[in-house]
Amino acid sequence: MSISSFLRKKFSMPLFFPSHSRGKALPKKLVQLLREEPGLWDIPELPELGTPLSDFGLIKDSQDYFAKKFAVNSCWFGVNGASGLLQSSILSMANPGEYILLPRNIHISIIKICLVANIIPIFFDLEYSEITGQYLPIKEAWLKKILKSNLLNNIKISGIVLVNPYYQGYSCEIKPLVDLCHGFEIPVLVDEAHGSYFLFCEDYGLPNSAVMAKADLVVHSLHKSLNGLTQTAMLWHHGNIIDKSKIAKKINLLQTTSPNSLLIASCDESIKDWLEKDSLEEYKKRIKEARNIYKELVSRDVPLIKTDDPLKIILNTGSYGIDGFTADKFFYKKGVISELPEMMTLTFCLGFEEQSNFIDMFENLWKSLLSSIKERKDLQPIKPPFSLIQIPEIPPSESLLRNSQKVNLNQSIGRISADIICPYPPGIPLAIPGERIEKERVDWLINQGLKGENLLNFYINVLIT
Ligand SMILES: Cc1ncc(COP(=O)(O)O)c(C=O)c1O
Repeated sequence: MSISSFLRKKFSMPLFFPSHSRGKALPKKLVQLLREEPGLWDIPELPELGTPLSDFGLIKDSQDYFAKKFAVNSCWFGVNGASGLLQSSILSMANPGEYILLPRNIHISIIKICLVANIIPIFFDLEYSEITGQYLPIKEAWLKKILKSNLLNNIKISGIVLVNPYYQGYSCEIKPLVDLCHGFEIPVLVDEAHGSYFLFCEDYGLPNSAVMAKADLVVHSLHKSLNGLTQTAMLWHHGNIIDKSKIAKKINLLQTTSPNSLLIASCDESIKDWLEKDSLEEYKKRIKEARNIYKELVSRDVPLIKTDDPLKIILNTGSYGIDGFTADKFFYKKGVISELPEMMTLTFCLGFEEQSNFIDMFENLWKSLLSSIKERKDLQPIKPPFSLIQIPEIPPSESLLRNSQKVNLNQSIGRISADIICPYPPGIPLAIPGERIEKERVDWLINQGLKGENLLNFYINVLIT
């Protein structure tokens, strides 16, 4: 089958990103554009249009309009996903050889730019749920403990990244955290890849957006948490701690010379759509519908985990001795495609399309999963094996340049990694170059992978000492 044929394949329920639900929830104006002659819209950066970095043109005008609307200094559309704009943001905060503070659930794109630019990540640990094994949102006291730690005493921290909400929708009160970091004179980048739509729904019981909390930089993935096409993203810049021209330079460093005009139009329309009264009312109905789905399923004894993003449905398969990967295969066969299987859970993304008949369908599938999987496992999440604060023993960029050898995961214990270990999704690295691989980490990895063949036969590059 060719790629283009596969793209036509229908699934009964596409509960994955992008959140426009296979076109059904795309902004109307983008749909009109796509209905024109095929490819008509594919034009270069003509002077009237410009690029996200131009001093004039429709793209600049649109970005200026949004910046004013949300009372930020500036903002930029991105066509290389949240990943690309996160990477430019990191380069705007830290120079080579400098340190940045990162939570353990950081996205891999940030580690990659640290490797390329010789920026040194200092990891801080997060509390975790003993039920799901997933990280819990950061509390102010927890972050204060980290920022006051003696281990950071003689280190100049160039910036901190906070991930909010998490992939599964868990979210913290972001403003006190931003204020706390500013109190320590640390610039804050919030990876809000999963929370773009929070910005448009103030007073709707959703978590607050970091844009409103005045974080210095905030990155949105418009295809994950708004109704943009895949690869669309937005970077919001607040205040003057980070210099605007420096950010533009760093975007320029990583951006393609030919930003795709359709993707740019998608950035523009997906944001405008949420500013229009009628469409906003429709989206609010979707949020209400999603809340109702959760409530109704729980009342029918479907084991769901509560999260702060109503559009995420987290099935607690582990509580019935079924791991999320096995459950995922079951749902996939039925044409119900999830977003994120993990050891204890399976997460579905409702997207912005109307969900009719979802509750009955989901309840029936859950019952049918229970009756078809006879073998129940004793699934116990174990605590992530990290200290509160950890600095890689060797700068990660340097580790990449040193001689390394491939060894089996079990033989890597006590050695320094020259690899990133990172399952996708969710794209959270479990070990990075320069970190020593302790026995606890290997045990945890094997437990996470359900003692599966894949991990037991997994090879990793370690430094030759
Ligand atoms: C927390 C987080 N940040 C950033 C990204 C990258 O987003 P994008 O796919 O738009 O590059 C992801 C993707 O999974 C993510 O989960």
